[in-house]
Amino acid sequence: MGCAELAWALAEARTREEVVRKALRLLEEKGVIRCGEAYWVGEDLRLFQMQACRAACPLVERSRHLAEAAARVGNPVVEDTLLALPVSPPGGKPLAILVLSLEAGQKPPEALGALLLLALKRTGLSQAARLLRAQEEERRRVGRELHDGVGSLLTAALLTLKVAERHPARLAEARERVAEALEEVRRLSRELRLPLLDDLGLQEALQRYLEEYRKNGLEVEARLEVPPLPKDKEVALFRVVQEALTNALRHARARKVRVALWAEGDRLFGLVEDDGEGFDPEKTPPSVGLLGMHERVQGLGGSLHLRSAPGEGTRVEFGVPL
Ligand SMILES: Nc1ncnc2c1ncn2[C@@H]1O[C@H](COP(=O)(O)OP(=O)(O)OP(=O)(O)O)[C@@H](O)[C@H]1O
Ligand SMILES: [Mg+2]
Repeated sequence: MGCAELAWALAEARTREEVVRKALRLLEEKGVIRCGEAYWVGEDLRLFQMQACRAACPLVERSRHLAEAAARVGNPVVEDTLLALPVSPPGGKPLAILVLSLEAGQKPPEALGALLLLALKRTGLSQAARLLRAQEEERRRVGRELHDGVGSLLTAALLTLKVAERHPARLAEARERVAEALEEVRRLSRELRLPLLDDLGLQEALQRYLEEYRKNGLEVEARLEVPPLPKDKEVALFRVVQEALTNALRHARARKVRVALWAEGDRLFGLVEDDGEGFDPEKTPPSVGLLGMHERVQGLGGSLHLRSAPGEGTRVEFGVPL
């Protein structure tokens, strides 16, 4: 098969998962491989599976072992019809490893490694740009909440105080507005700071966060089995769950939510499900909240699916490498 075809297919991939998915699919379609798997190479050459084979085939059992060997030597490793191909920058450690089960007499195009490198590098860069944009959006959102929430409460308090200069009976009302504004500031800073996470870790912080929801009358069913994780991962996952719950409360008028986080193999899975009004994701433009959830999960090398329909509640599922 030709390199141009491959380059064309990879040019449109937006995430690194998409890069490897598209590459594997094309190789399969062109009859070069029977199937393939892909791993992302992390710190200390730890491998995270990015793309798994769809069928139960002999490759599945042997691919990790082969990928590890290829990561170690930094060169392709061949075993029978299986080929583990590292994708490495010149002189650097591999970014990813592809493990291919080749069709008889086939071999992948010469430029496969170089094209993958180009595509992975490009999505890495655009990922950083997206992250910056997400940060900018987040600031705008905080600005909006300050303006609409705290700002309007304080404006109301100011007006009431003006009236109270002549009618002292209204003082109590002004005091109430200020107290509400203070509560709003507290809520906002609680949402922003995640103080619990620093001290307690994700599992315990989420338990306590859910407790707040229970106090507000929401029925919460939780199954949290979270192993200790690096801090940045914990923050990202907390934010994802937080946004899904906020949406359930804000838009869905849910009575019950189900929250689960659990590890399975080398992945961590998450689920937030509400019994609320639901919506049509095709027709509803996502805002910062939903986009942010996708960004964060993709930033961890994982993927997130949202399923919802009017009248049928909403289900957010995600999986990230451990
Ligand atoms: N659990 C849910 N139930 C019902 N509708 C939802 C749910 N989650 C999201 N939506 C719909 O999808 C839209 C986009 O959600 P998103 O979280 O991106 O934005 P938002 O919550 O409106 O604002 P923000 O950017 O502050 O989060 C919402 O406005 C709402 O219409
Ligand atoms: Mg939202």
